[in-house]
Amino acid sequence: MDFFEYKNNQLFAEGVSVADIAEQYGTPCYVYSRKTLERHYHAFTDAADGHPHLVCYAVKANSNLAVLNVLAKQGAGFDIVSQGELARVLQAGGDASKVVFSGVAKTAQEIAFALVQNIKCFNVESEAELERISHVASELNKTARVSIRVNPDIDAKTHPYISTGLKENKFGIDINQAFDIYQKAYALPGIEVVGVDFHIGSQLTEVAPFLAALDKVLALVDKLKTAGIELEHLDIGGGLGVPYDSEKPPHPSAYAAEVKAKLVNYPHLELVFEPGRAIAANAGILVTKVEYIKPTKDKHFAIVDAGMNDMLRPSLYQAWQNIIAVAPRADGTPTQNYDVVGPVCETGDFLGKDRPLAIQAGDLLAQRSAGAYGFTMSSNYNSRPRVAEIMVDGDESHLVRQRETLTSLWQGEQLLP
Ligand code: LLP
Repeated sequence: MDFFEYKNNQLFAEGVSVADIAEQYGTPCYVYSRKTLERHYHAFTDAADGHPHLVCYAVKANSNLAVLNVLAKQGAGFDIVSQGELARVLQAGGDASKVVFSGVAKTAQEIAFALVQNIKCFNVESEAELERISHVASELNKTARVSIRVNPDIDAKTHPYISTGLKENKFGIDINQAFDIYQKAYALPGIEVVGVDFHIGSQLTEVAPFLAALDKVLALVDKLKTAGIELEHLDIGGGLGVPYDSEKPPHPSAYAAEVKAKLVNYPHLELVFEPGRAIAANAGILVTKVEYIKPTKDKHFAIVDAGMNDMLRPSLYQAWQNIIAVAPRADGTPTQNYDVVGPVCETGDFLGKDRPLAIQAGDLLAQRSAGAYGFTMSSNYNSRPRVAEIMVDGDESHLVRQRETLTSLWQGEQLLP
């Protein structure tokens, strides 16, 4: 559930009219709802209640400082994949001791930075990375707390680009080799083995793949215990899907209940979650203005001021996100099936296709479920300044990232002497 709804035929974000936000800050813009972020975060903490747990929000979904700060204030941990994400977490007041560091290509510099900040854990994705962490930690006279990210070879049944737990994917260490790597890790200098983790993919709409992976990982936990390696935590990654359209992903409470049921014999094994989309997606919308209506012989195009550089998901994954009018017309404007397309010079530049809308030039549209993997995947392609981000908090709206300026487009660039 989120806090974007119509009141008197006007779309509101919590207590603020979206049309007023567009008027004040211009379009395109991302609008986030604080209350929705908090609600989704607590859906996880409430669901995990009764078992030791930590919810580490996946920063890549939406890394705006205000978003991170809202979650940090609720006690969230964070899942990061770069030094930049860790720097953001710290800048936003996040607690490094609740940070887990995922990602296949951690550089020595990133590892050192994270060690100095005393993060909770490195999620190790290869044997070579394990050796590098040991080396960097030893040089700094530090101990790196590590978890092995295992690749359980489970089909997450999601889009191939966001499936990560199959043996042909680059992520994690083959679960069949994990036991040997744990033994190696246990003996390496500068390394403390504390956990195990997996992340099999994103936008999962069933619990079964998580449970299948969990079974395999718990068998590994048992085998390690027998060998004298007792783990503190089990990180089951992120990946819980959201309803974009008619999908019916399990509620966090149903998902966590099934996970907890598997952990009754592991009462001290802390359960770590890394949700990104489930917290942020439906806590945000992308607001855009119709610049032109362009009817052709075959199609009706609604050409809007937001493009694939602002929201890449439809072009990259053929993702479907709902597009609604900010102020639905009741003046007899006919409903047509529109391709809602952007200004970017690519045929793949669209926000949605075949959308029934009753609109005219100048109208405002909102693309729903845009809070995750929206702004964070945006770019300056076609020399388009990145858009403003606004967070609504009750009856107030706050600019949490200003629209980029034209001069910011070439910041850092130089002419030849
Ligand atoms: N943990 C790890 C190690 C991950 O790689 C990811 C996402 C997450 C957690 C968070 O997953 P979530 O709960 O958000 O599903 N850009 C794509 C999604 C890429 C996800 C990458 N990894 C999209 O827009 O659909």
